[in-house]
Amino acid sequence: MDTRRRFGEKLLGSLVGFGLVETLYRHDLFADAVKPTIDAWVKDLVALTKDLRGRKLSDLQFQAKMEELYKVVDLKALCSLVKLDQIEKKELPANGAMSVGFDLAVEGLPKELGFGRQVFGCGKGRSVVPHGHANMCTGFVILKGKWHGRHYDREETLKDHYVIKPTIDREFGPGDLSTISDHKDNIHWFKAVSDKAYIFNVHVIGYDERIAETSGRLYLDPDGEKLAGGRVKAPKLSSAECHKRYG
Ligand SMILES: [Fe+2]
Repeated sequence: MDTRRRFGEKLLGSLVGFGLVETLYRHDLFADAVKPTIDAWVKDLVALTKDLRGRKLSDLQFQAKMEELYKVVDLKALCSLVKLDQIEKKELPANGAMSVGFDLAVEGLPKELGFGRQVFGCGKGRSVVPHGHANMCTGFVILKGKWHGRHYDREETLKDHYVIKPTIDREFGPGDLSTISDHKDNIHWFKAVSDKAYIFNVHVIGYDERIAETSGRLYLDPDGEKLAGGRVKAPKLSSAECHKRYG
């Protein structure tokens, strides 16, 4: 038995080393037993949000915990909860992303959830256009389709532009996730690379009254002048300009 256990531990160690545990999780190869029920998952999200607003968690701590929670979501149950089959019947826009709200039919939730929620949908080649956020923590879980997802840190905010630094640039598929706070990976841009692609989104707006900037999307062009150290001078754009270029 001892030998077998040691072998098991060694094997698990190797899997961790190669990042395979995460891959197995992502592809749903572990038993469903490790995942919380979707009701418990939503309640955890509500509790985390409350802790962020109550300053029990910093935005970076909240962001890390949101990612942990997003990693163990029962994707099939989440798609049912948001009624993705109904959302898929809606026509996707010719430019940019469709945004659809949904009810959370979970018993025992407080009246104020503390977060907003929506599903984004894009046709192939269309985008949730590049934008950053102020005073907002938010996170995506891919529900369906393939996406080219990019994030940037917003390092400086000047009159006409931002100084940004790329942090994430890869393909995202169902179950993959990413998050935003004021202090990490603040800008995101998701382009659908397969037809009919959908994203689950939760956003916590105005979590810190010490942040003077008003909430709202900060549109920009990430394809700006290259600066030292991989940074980019990214001009500020209006929503219309940004959608014209990237929608
Ligand atoms: Fe956003």
